[in-house]
Amino acid sequence: MDGDRVESSVVCEDGVITSFSGAPLGATRIDARGCAVLPGLIDAHTHLVFGGDRVGEFRARSAGATYEDIAKEGGGIWKTVLATREASEMELFALAMPRLKQMIARGVTTVEGKGGYGLALEDERKILRVYRQLQHETGVDIVTTFLALHALPRGRTKDAYVEESLTWLETLHKEGLVDGVDVFVETTAFSLDDAKRTGEVAHRLGLPLRLHVDQLTEGKGAALAAELGAASADHLENMREEDASTLAEAGVVATLLPWASLFVSRGKKPPVARLREAGVKMAIATDFNPGSAPVLDMHATMALAVGYFGMSVEEVLRGVTTHAADALKIPAGVIKLGARADLVVLDHEDPTRLCYEVGNSPVRMTVKSGAVIFKRG
Ligand code: NIG
Ligand code: FE
Repeated sequence: MDGDRVESSVVCEDGVITSFSGAPLGATRIDARGCAVLPGLIDAHTHLVFGGDRVGEFRARSAGATYEDIAKEGGGIWKTVLATREASEMELFALAMPRLKQMIARGVTTVEGKGGYGLALEDERKILRVYRQLQHETGVDIVTTFLALHALPRGRTKDAYVEESLTWLETLHKEGLVDGVDVFVETTAFSLDDAKRTGEVAHRLGLPLRLHVDQLTEGKGAALAAELGAASADHLENMREEDASTLAEAGVVATLLPWASLFVSRGKKPPVARLREAGVKMAIATDFNPGSAPVLDMHATMALAVGYFGMSVEEVLRGVTTHAADALKIPAGVIKLGARADLVVLDHEDPTRLCYEVGNSPVRMTVKSGAVIFKRG
């Protein structure tokens, strides 16, 4: 990823890259001749932990129903909330683990994971604890995001709910469960003001903001993300094109989610050409969730970013490595001395293969902090 530099070997000790030549005596050797070795992939926006499914809605949408109509009729996010509340922590863990293993098999070594399907303190806690457990069991870094403002629970008034959610944020942060904060800013969800109030608390706690904005309707969300100094503005299908320079100036990463665009945005896409021209860093993520993007496959997501969004392969590779790391505000996504040895080894020399022959994964091996966590049998 670093220009045309070709390294002969990557030496890892105690999980960290210590040299690009030679190797200590007795070191475990992995022969990667003829293989591209890339930074482990980073999926910077997922809703990995949830109960139930929304397969019926998928069918209904295929027959003309809209995502918003389904939500208004009590389906959508609320349906997943009920199923998630119903599930125990162990059940949610058992559902999420095979999903995460699919990601790992595709070279993913860091995943952002959101709450937002509990909408009550104990249920949001349950989801965030599952993420911590998944990290513990697999070694993959899971960057958690508090998202109580994902949907208004039935029977609640908005202001009281927003106020209460902020007390949960403080509590769960104290419990060490929160790495970042998100709000779904949308006419059918929460307002710019709700996001500002949340942003103030996040700021006071030193937590980065990553906001769902301008997804289904144009709502000045990109400008808000810039104003609040968010780490990322996610979705952006309906952003005002003039906000691209505002995002660039504020250093906000645009996290683009091709599957959600394809499945629920009815032909609307983020203004990639405008973002590129303004110099906005673009990350690409699966947005894996049971509603708008039921897709775990990072390679297919990258291919869609190329074919549907019109991004170059180079942009997409940065979008799942360095720029994704910037979106999460973590030191990852690069192969350099002193960096953690998070690597993906491909069958081919050309990393384009990651998003070329979709369905035929070129990933031979996934290495996390120097340990092999996936090896193709
Ligand atoms: O990223 N837009 C809000 N949140 C998710 C969808 C969640 C769901 O439908 O369950 C998204 O598209
Ligand atoms: Fe999302």
